[in-house]
Amino acid sequence: MSTLPIGIFDSGVGGTTVWKEIHKLLPQESSIYLADSRNAPYGPKAKDTIIELSSKNTEYLLNKNCKLIVVACNTATTNAIDYLRKTYNTPFIGIEPAIKPAALLTKTKAIGILATKGTLSSSLFSKTSDLITNNIKIIEQIGEGLVELIENGKLHSKEMKALLKLYLQPMLDAHIDYLVLGCTHYPYLIPLLIDLLPKHVKIIDSGEAVARQTKVVLKQHNLLNNQIGIKSKHNFYTNANPSVLQSLLNEKYNVEYLDF
Ligand code: DGL
Repeated sequence: MSTLPIGIFDSGVGGTTVWKEIHKLLPQESSIYLADSRNAPYGPKAKDTIIELSSKNTEYLLNKNCKLIVVACNTATTNAIDYLRKTYNTPFIGIEPAIKPAALLTKTKAIGILATKGTLSSSLFSKTSDLITNNIKIIEQIGEGLVELIENGKLHSKEMKALLKLYLQPMLDAHIDYLVLGCTHYPYLIPLLIDLLPKHVKIIDSGEAVARQTKVVLKQHNLLNNQIGIKSKHNFYTNANPSVLQSLLNEKYNVEYLDF
């Protein structure tokens, strides 16, 4: 069992930011990555649709004998992970915006969160943000259009810069000192965000924490691959044009089109 791959899915290419953290921490683990880019973005979709798409991705990965599933998408986690855990008998790891650590660390008592509509309007997100004491201001911003630009290979475009400027302004007006990235596509924006933000504003995302949690859960289930000296295998599949996903990965990893 322990040599079986980890299954990872996202609405598109963004979950590779999580895959990279998992691979860094657990290089001996093999993986199968699914980018459901044909259905991206999930953010504006209804909860039922997000559950349906997440179930389709999960079933594909389970049919490929994955030992654990990482939902490398904040929108799918906050809308569908309860359903997935109830429905499928396999361990799931999800990703949620790291607003708790940001709220603990802020000195200006103002934090910003950039995420999709589906994440910000989910009850799981509201539950977490309600726990944060009311002397901290949370500036929520839907990153409308950002995922589409990344999926279309327009990461470094003028449109991207203009949207980011627009979305950051209310946060800067509120004097945030932490910006939480609540979508797995957004770590690819970090170089642009650093250019647009004052130096003292720190950016937090949850990729590393997800990798650590993956290790903990694999250990708990006796699923950690302890074989030394065996090369891990990684398969990347997308149901859209493979070139964007390929451009975000080292060329030694092969991306294949798959109609799932
Ligand atoms: N990577 C997904 C997330 O973390 C993007 C959501 C979308 O497709 O809108 O939320």
